[in-house]
Amino acid sequence: MVTRRSFVAGNWKMNGLKKDGLSLAKSLVSKVKKLDNSNVEIVICPPFTLLATTGSALKGTKIKLGGQDCHFSNTGSHTGDISASMVKDAGCKYVIVGHSERRINHREGNDIIKKKAEAALLNGLTIILCIGETLNQRITKKTQTVIRRQIVGSLPKSSRSKNTIIAYEPIWAIGTGKTATPSQAQEIHKFIRYQLVKCIGPSESKKMRIVYGGSVKPENAKALLGQPDVDGGLIGGASLVSSDFFSIIQSCS
Ligand code: 13P
Repeated sequence: MVTRRSFVAGNWKMNGLKKDGLSLAKSLVSKVKKLDNSNVEIVICPPFTLLATTGSALKGTKIKLGGQDCHFSNTGSHTGDISASMVKDAGCKYVIVGHSERRINHREGNDIIKKKAEAALLNGLTIILCIGETLNQRITKKTQTVIRRQIVGSLPKSSRSKNTIIAYEPIWAIGTGKTATPSQAQEIHKFIRYQLVKCIGPSESKKMRIVYGGSVKPENAKALLGQPDVDGGLIGGASLVSSDFFSIIQSCS
């Protein structure tokens, strides 16, 4: 049987000034120090402006740094963008690509997301590739079609379990306080794993981590993240409160 190491990442989104980021990172570091279980991979993804500050607080700890996005080009005339090599250079080991807030607010489609993911992999970053359906797509029973299209359209050919984490984030559950039920999450995670077989083969599909995101809180984490095909979480709001984020990490132990 394949055992997959749990993965928990905090996506701080567009939150925090230097002093907030530093105190949140420090508080988390002191909590995580007490955790002897090294079986959870922990990442925080602060806004770009906080990478240096939080990165210094995380040095030598178990918590790794991630970016929230990257451009597909390495350099050039892209005002306001950050390339994968810059994300790497800023101390990140991970980068989120395809978050629904990028897909919707910045009109990023699967083709762009795939190019970003490829650039990230080329630069030695591990990608956290987000997929998920809208409420309307769920109601009209299009969830599986949408998810399949997102996987086929945005997963790079060079994706493997060692460099890719899939984050299933139903859009209707993000920041809404509504979560998928544990069985709804498990159903889609199992479906994603089945789709991955076609893209990367059965052995890699079994090894790839598929994490859940969307209103994960200390109260629901154990049930959601305890599902057989749910290998951890991508946490938004609750990652901004160190005790909540830590409690979610503990529920994976
Ligand atoms: P919330 O946990 O705030 O719902 O956000 C989830 C998310 O979008 C993480 O990327």
